Amino acid sequence: MFKQLNLYISRQATSLPRYIYEQTLQALCGWVPSIVGIALRTLVYRKLVQMEGSAAIEDGVRLRFAGNVRLGRGTYLDHGVYLHACPGGIQIGPESLVMKNAILHVYNFRNLPHAGISIGARSLIGESCILRGQGGITIGDDVYLGTLVQILAVNHVFHDTSRPISRQGITAQGISIGSGSWIGSGAIILDGVTIGRNVVIGAGAVVSKDVPDYAVAVGNPARVVRNLQAEPLEIHDKERLVVY
Ligand SMILES: CC(C)(COP(=O)(O)OP(=O)(O)OC[C@H]1O[C@@H](n2cnc3c(N)ncnc32)[C@H](O)[C@@H]1OP(=O)(O)O)[C@@H](O)C(=O)NCCC(=O)NCCS
Repeated sequence: MFKQLNLYISRQATSLPRYIYEQTLQALCGWVPSIVGIALRTLVYRKLVQMEGSAAIEDGVRLRFAGNVRLGRGTYLDHGVYLHACPGGIQIGPESLVMKNAILHVYNFRNLPHAGISIGARSLIGESCILRGQGGITIGDDVYLGTLVQILAVNHVFHDTSRPISRQGITAQGISIGSGSWIGSGAIILDGVTIGRNVVIGAGAVVSKDVPDYAVAVGNPARVVRNLQAEPLEIHDKERLVVY
């Protein structure tokens, strides 16, 4: 029982005192709704996370290893966001938004050297996205992720048929997404992939290989169908395609 309790705490915070501290502040302030709650957490949570200027944190945001979370000026965490920032940490750049129910989990309990999640400035993580950052995830500036995007910087090893896959360890190479890119809803980005700048990934794509700058890639497995520099998009039907 004691061993299990110890294990549980070690998955939630860096130490027992820190666990009690983080849980107490979140229990006292984490539930308060409306702009009053946001103002309260802007004041109090700077003792919990590393915060530059003011960050807006809605009620019901769950933070673990909160001392490893760094929030830039003007970041926004929507209701139900879960940041689990074990060693390697989570950095969210200025004016970036993490929308409802997104889960950012570094899940580094094996001292993985490159673990962590880093998001640049003015980026948007859509509703219910899941980022697993064991191998390291780097997202540039002005990157938009649609809803339900999964970025999975980890794989299980599965070559040894005499042992369960769950006991064969993992590989974790890392994923990077260049500035200005747009990842369509439901896309899955696999470990080891580098996505260039200003790339479009179609909705539902499974990206298993690198995608160069200015490419549009769609499908499972994702294939480049267009390069926006070599073949710029023409807007044939201006009445149908209204640009806001
Ligand atoms: C990729 C996308 C942007 C369209 O880009 P585009 O360069 O205009 O592509 P086109 O519409 O000319 O399609 C090119 C080809 O790819 C196919 N295609 C387009 N999107 C696709 C997708 N998501 N999955 C699979 N195939 C797709 C088209 O059917 C077409 O195939 P064809 O050449 O055999 O006819 C769009 O289809 C898309 O997926 N948008 C994401 C929407 C979204 O997630 N919105 C959430 C808001 S954040």
